[in-house]
Amino acid sequence: KFEDLAQTPPMGWNSWNTFETDIDEQLVRNIADKFVELGLKDAGYEYIVLDDGWMSRERDSNGNLVADPKKFPNGMKALVDYVHSQGLKFGLYNCAGGNTCAGYPGSRGHQYQDARLYASWGVDFLKYDWCDTGNLNARESYVTMRDALYEAGKPVLFSICEWGTYQPWEWAGDVGHMWRITGDIINCWDCEVGHGSWASFGIWKVIELRNKEKIRQAAGPGHWNDYDMMEVGNGMTDAEDRSHFAMWNILNSPLMMGNDLREVSKETLKTLTNKEVIAVNKDPLAIPAFRFNNENNVEIWAKPLKNEKWAITFVNRNDTPVDIDFDWRRHQLSDDLSQRSLQVENTTYQLRDLFKHEEVGDTSKNLQTSIGVHDVLMLKLTPKS
Ligand code: DGJ
Repeated sequence: KFEDLAQTPPMGWNSWNTFETDIDEQLVRNIADKFVELGLKDAGYEYIVLDDGWMSRERDSNGNLVADPKKFPNGMKALVDYVHSQGLKFGLYNCAGGNTCAGYPGSRGHQYQDARLYASWGVDFLKYDWCDTGNLNARESYVTMRDALYEAGKPVLFSICEWGTYQPWEWAGDVGHMWRITGDIINCWDCEVGHGSWASFGIWKVIELRNKEKIRQAAGPGHWNDYDMMEVGNGMTDAEDRSHFAMWNILNSPLMMGNDLREVSKETLKTLTNKEVIAVNKDPLAIPAFRFNNENNVEIWAKPLKNEKWAITFVNRNDTPVDIDFDWRRHQLSDDLSQRSLQVENTTYQLRDLFKHEEVGDTSKNLQTSIGVHDVLMLKLTPKS
């Protein structure tokens, strides 16, 4: 059922970051094969989503959307069947406006018809964009498409993409399963190009947004803040990729890969399939991290986990390695939203490094370590009994 989807943040792959509109059926088949071959399916990745550019420029004489016959000579249904045969799920993109952002036919005025078409193809996921919308009301537009999907009768994970302009965290909880909170991120560390990089725009900007606690509060099973498709494996350093991945997980973001899985490096794959880090994203408490501290340009974000455990990331935004000497007692780590705090006075927590996969001491002593340029230390804290 619609309500049963996305109980943990959705995981998958989306074509846009690497391929833009240059997509076709061979690519999708290759990606589906790679999901299985590379262990991505085992790590929890499930959805393969075709973004903008899958359609012909015109609807047919009945007003139906048409899969571009050059890119998809066997039609969309056969491709969806192939993805399903690999035990995976399939997603498509459209837009609330008259045209998509890349100029293909949008769903405005055709929502119910399009929903029926997707259902007939077996589509499991719809990403719904916000270009060419004129003076449409955002909530109403997304409600219309949600209702159209309901009526078509097949459960579809509904991904809202209006970039946070109309504060979807305030109204989208019962409309979609995830909603973008920012514009598009790019594969660049702390750059200020266009909308900005994943770091300066996608994450750190969020803490400057109004009502940042409302954004945290809005996340939960069935409805998540979407920090955008990932740029892991798209040209940043391995350290930057680790930081990116750590933050998406600790913030309970959906994990949509955005890289070319046909040519993935060992390090990228190691990062994307890190099950200990992904377990933080799937933690049943489902409370996103908050920014606790950023002394010396080292960002510390903390997320309460089930059974009084915690996850903490230390992200080094400096262009030099940094030495850490962190006194657990000096920092009162507590969270108003979840009403939880780290009880270091009367409890000792065991520390586990989720990238090195090893125990690294406990909170009875200062944390002394160093973190490489733009790298992350991600710890799980478990109370010792
Ligand atoms: C804008 C969205 O934010 C992107 O993720 C992508 O879907 C493009 N539109 C496609 O045109």
